[in-house]
Amino acid sequence: MTDLEARIPPLRIEPREEDVLAIVLDRPDAKVNLIDEAWLHAMTAALDEIERARPAGIVLVSAKPGNFIAGADVSLIASLETPADAERRARQGQELLSRLEDLPVRKVAAIRGACLGGGLETALAFDWIVVADDDRTVLGLPEVRLGILPGFGGTWRLPKRTGILAGLPLVLTGRTLRPRQAEKLGLADRLASPELVERVAIAIAAGREKPKRRRPVRARMLDFLAGRTPPGRALLRNFTEKNVAKETGGHYPAPPRILERVLDGYGTPRGAAMAREAAAFGQLAVTPEAKNLLFLFTGNEELARHPWTGRPAPADATTVRAAVLGAGTMGGGIAGSLAGAGIQVRLRDVAVESLRVGLAGAAGPLNRRVQKRRMKPRDRDAVMERISPATDLTGLTNVDVVIEAVPEILELKQKVFREVEGIVRDDTILATNTSSIPIDAIAHGIEAKERLVGLHFFNPVHRMPLVEVIPGARTRDGVLEGAVGLVRRLKKSPLVVADRPGFLVNRLLLPYLNEAALAVQDGWPIPAVDGALLRFGMPMGPLRVLDEVGLDVAAKVSHVLEDAFGTRARPAPLMQRLLEAGALGTKAGRGFWVGTGRERTANTQDLGGLPAAPAPPDEEIVERLLSGMINEAARCLAEGVVRERDHLDLGTVLGAGFPPFRGGLARWALSLGEDEVRRRLDALAARYGERFAPFEGLGELFRNS
Ligand code: NAI
Repeated sequence: MTDLEARIPPLRIEPREEDVLAIVLDRPDAKVNLIDEAWLHAMTAALDEIERARPAGIVLVSAKPGNFIAGADVSLIASLETPADAERRARQGQELLSRLEDLPVRKVAAIRGACLGGGLETALAFDWIVVADDDRTVLGLPEVRLGILPGFGGTWRLPKRTGILAGLPLVLTGRTLRPRQAEKLGLADRLASPELVERVAIAIAAGREKPKRRRPVRARMLDFLAGRTPPGRALLRNFTEKNVAKETGGHYPAPPRILERVLDGYGTPRGAAMAREAAAFGQLAVTPEAKNLLFLFTGNEELARHPWTGRPAPADATTVRAAVLGAGTMGGGIAGSLAGAGIQVRLRDVAVESLRVGLAGAAGPLNRRVQKRRMKPRDRDAVMERISPATDLTGLTNVDVVIEAVPEILELKQKVFREVEGIVRDDTILATNTSSIPIDAIAHGIEAKERLVGLHFFNPVHRMPLVEVIPGARTRDGVLEGAVGLVRRLKKSPLVVADRPGFLVNRLLLPYLNEAALAVQDGWPIPAVDGALLRFGMPMGPLRVLDEVGLDVAAKVSHVLEDAFGTRARPAPLMQRLLEAGALGTKAGRGFWVGTGRERTANTQDLGGLPAAPAPPDEEIVERLLSGMINEAARCLAEGVVRERDHLDLGTVLGAGFPPFRGGLARWALSLGEDEVRRRLDALAARYGERFAPFEGLGELFRNS
């Protein structure tokens, strides 16, 4: 706690008109309100005061623009060590909110800004919830995403208010709601314009107004059938259990516990429901899965710190105009992402047809959001209007940043930068989206070396949360900082990595993908290889990933890595064979798999004549494919590709799809232990060759923290 926090409490009581008191949430020296020790303490004192004053009503409001309560302090949850400790903490919060709920005054929460987790649980203890109808207001219980459950009564109060059919999925998925959705589901009793929220809440608290809670009869009937009758409950449980198993692959302990708590709590008296919720919270909070997810959450926030000073680097707020050079797969996606963040984009390509492709690439994800009614058509149009296509070099004089995404050819990239460096301002950031060319090699051929930085996006841009930010030897600090800020502005995670071949993610991914191809070459069945990794928790099997990336693209990166690292990175000959047969992957309709949709079959036609080996057990497949990746990660740490071990975890989860519940590659390696990893590598080296020989600095991976 800082001095300031010790002196100024995170909330205060202020009188309002007509015998109404306001609890004003205003954590000192912070942008958001959080539930932490100080908050619980101050809230307890506030309830004492309200009990003494006995007003007609109270309202809960926030003094932070855009934020009501962001949730509980995650570091507090991460610090819980035993189930008993965690359970006790949940009890504390529950008791406070039950006491609040029982206050014999009219209680109204006036929500404006994000109201998440413990914040929403607090609001749910109020009689009425008034919500600001603006873009910054969202409501939800995202605890499940951290591997835990709402432990301040949320599993009981939310379904009680919305009905079980609406409430259960909200707690299970952690989905957040916009104000109108919240009203529709009965979570918000009233919507009001942001300026009027508090006034409306006061009118209700003073007894001058009484919102009608009218859930349609049909919804109430269905809720009764599903939640209160034994066959209905059995049906709901069965159906949801199946869905949960499908979504989580059985890897995440929180959803099944949430299901149990919500279902059993529905219609149960408060006391019993709370006790069971706290116990379940206690057990979940200390599971390795929760610890890993909590680590990733805080780690992700840490990424936004300035790489050298360690100070929080603010999201960029000054970029107004950008240029994207090359309107292909990546250029289109990047342009869409920039425009989505409110930036004017000049999208330049040499070919008119490519511009069409690029614009379609930018519009695709927006159209899908419109289809799903997550976006209004006019908002999509506004985003698209910010992108202006061109085949010439006009419109570049006043851009703040240039992002180059032309084909992966060194001379072409240099030429493109030389063309623009004389046109743009002399403080414009020049970023390259290269996936394998060293930044310094590009810098070598241009004048503005200090303004060049790598911004390596992943495909598809709109979905992939990570961007590698790569300073070259001459890149100015301010340029690096600007690049990190821009990535944050796009609501993505910036990972600063060194200018080494393959940067971080591709360097780790390639040995894994390559080993999958080598395994197929040894006769391991394609479905067995992909299936084992899916069951390990990867979102997609490695051979399918190769098909999606395209074998031609993968081959290019493989050769760069082979040139840099020699035989251990030599591409599997099988990839060359597929390439020669034109089986480039999904875009060609066949690669390792044949077909483009969900149903695919192993490609036996182009891969005939391979030895037929029986499918090894999953563990053997996982060991073979991922051990080399651990070895390579140890090298990356030793070479300073990443500054700290945690970044290996964030990079592999956010950039390579490593299963979040395992916490990332390094944390998974740590859970195996150094001896086991060495044993695996030695055994693999004896069987398959030197590429598995343990790196001499492997031990550092286990010591460094
Ligand atoms: P692409 O081939 O889809 O698009 C490249 C575009 O650049 C084409 O539309 C082409 O007409 C245009 N172009 C060529 N010369 C130009 C010039 N002088 N000025 C303006 N435009 C020009 O390629 P893609 O896949 O979008 O890749 C672009 C860059 O992004 C490459 O460096 C690639 O390594 C990198 N990258 C690709 C990823 C992927 O999965 N496709 C992932 C991450 C990075």
